[in-house]
Amino acid sequence: MDQKHLDHKSTVNLGSYYTPSWLVDIVYTLIEKNIPNASDYTILDTSCGYGGFLRGEKTIGADIDQKAVETAQTNSPESKYFNHNSLYEISRPHYGLTNDAKIIIVGNPPYNDTTSIIRNSIKRNEFMRDFDVMSRDLGISFLLSYDKLTADYVCVLHPLSYLIKKANFEALWQFKNNYKLIDSFVVSSGVFSATSKTTSFPIIVALYERNLFGMEYNYIENYKFITSEGKTFSLRQYDTIGKYISKYPNKNKVNSDDTVAYFYTMRDVNALKRTATFLDNETYNSIRITADKMPYYCYVDIFKEYIPHIPYYFGNSDVMINNDAFTEMKDLFVTKSIKKHPKLSGCIESKKNYSDFEQPVKMYFRNLLGEHYVDSHD
Ligand SMILES: C[S@@+](CC[C@H](N)C(=O)[O-])C[C@H]1O[C@@H](n2cnc3c(N)ncnc32)[C@H](O)[C@@H]1O
Repeated sequence: MDQKHLDHKSTVNLGSYYTPSWLVDIVYTLIEKNIPNASDYTILDTSCGYGGFLRGEKTIGADIDQKAVETAQTNSPESKYFNHNSLYEISRPHYGLTNDAKIIIVGNPPYNDTTSIIRNSIKRNEFMRDFDVMSRDLGISFLLSYDKLTADYVCVLHPLSYLIKKANFEALWQFKNNYKLIDSFVVSSGVFSATSKTTSFPIIVALYERNLFGMEYNYIENYKFITSEGKTFSLRQYDTIGKYISKYPNKNKVNSDDTVAYFYTMRDVNALKRTATFLDNETYNSIRITADKMPYYCYVDIFKEYIPHIPYYFGNSDVMINNDAFTEMKDLFVTKSIKKHPKLSGCIESKKNYSDFEQPVKMYFRNLLGEHYVDSHD
């Protein structure tokens, strides 16, 4: 059931985008496949909305949104409910659970960046959080709350960026120290009808098991992700641009005398889709480019053109590169980029006069992406 009782502001602030039932089915498929005697566990959704994840009797739902809880009570009357802030005074007794109860946490917590919350409609107490689950992102706070509840298993949806971006992964702190990803499924944020206007990003349906050793970032780098389109990928399969050039402002590393051009900060593929590449002037978030690194920035400039051929699941990844293939043909990228930004011809030479650089560049991206190359898009 789609959420229908909140206005736009509250929907954004609470992250109330409800989950289609086929995705809830996937959560239960992962649980049944991986957890022996799953029926012995109590299922808990601490951000339950209308209760779409609550199936059967041993289930508990909680939500800060009173109307949502009332609807859930009518939809699934056999569950137990709590109308509270699940990030404040987090403890098992708040759910009527003892320390030895076996629990599986399911759901789809809100994942807003708390700095982008639409200010004036916030009631202060709605956003109180225990200090040990504080994070810039509400979704990361929820993952930390699952650790605080010492759930035996966690099977929830969250942005894939929590795992693949190193800084986010580190922010998972006690969660990553105590849980290990054991099975998963990647889908596009576009499946949530209300959010599809923005650029799609990857969401993971992730099953975590509480584990003495947790997981290291290196485990995620090698992990094979499977997407709903039947594609498989791992972070290790690509070399990325950050290995060759600065992605962030580098004023304290590069002298202005050595600077030949400026480039906009590069975050990930989705950010590059929206931002500029070469800049005429230096700004607080521009990168200084030295002559020797120029071809790599031309590469990123051309990469941006090919983003429509990159699938949503690489949206939060770094710009990918095949350095050997690129090195052999870098003059083509430079020439193509100068054609777009004639001002660059003053700071880098394009060596040859190519009659056709479109085809080889296209071939380069087809080879780079292989089975992931997206041929058509709307
Ligand atoms: C993405 S919706 C998920 C709803 C439901 N589980 C589903 O997927 O259909 C996120 C839910 O989290 C609730 N929520 C947001 N902040 C909360 C908090 N601090 N404590 C409890 N629930 C919260 C919202 O009211 C909303 O119902």
